[in-house]
Amino acid sequence: MNYFVWDVEKYSVGHADLDQQHQQLLEIVNRLIEHVVLGKSDDFALTEILLELNSYAARHFETEERVLMAIDYPLIHEQKEAHGNYIAKLSQCMMQLEQGGVDFMRLLEFVRKWWEHHILTDDMAFKPLLEKGV
Ligand SMILES: [Fe+2]
Repeated sequence: MNYFVWDVEKYSVGHADLDQQHQQLLEIVNRLIEHVVLGKSDDFALTEILLELNSYAARHFETEERVLMAIDYPLIHEQKEAHGNYIAKLSQCMMQLEQGGVDFMRLLEFVRKWWEHHILTDDMAFKPLLEKGV
């Protein structure tokens, strides 16, 4: 599984705070990949990284929704729904984790794909509006 390599051309959505948060989120996902793929640590350490990812994601969604509201982004409801679904899915995984029933590889695939799609598809959709300074 490939690590994320931050590339402004590829990942920038044209907003300094959001770019910085995305960069940080991808860095946490990279750490998760490293731990799972290399089998570097136990479930406790992985849970710690997931908790960090969740709390940072919640902070990011809050910032992003504020930015999108300020520009009257027409797809804000879809965006909020996607954020809510992600949080619900991760909460469910955290619960399963406590019971020891999580396939880390599958969870990692989901998290990696989700963030890639979030930045490259969902967030790129509002980039032209931010650039216009709407
Ligand atoms: Fe985002």
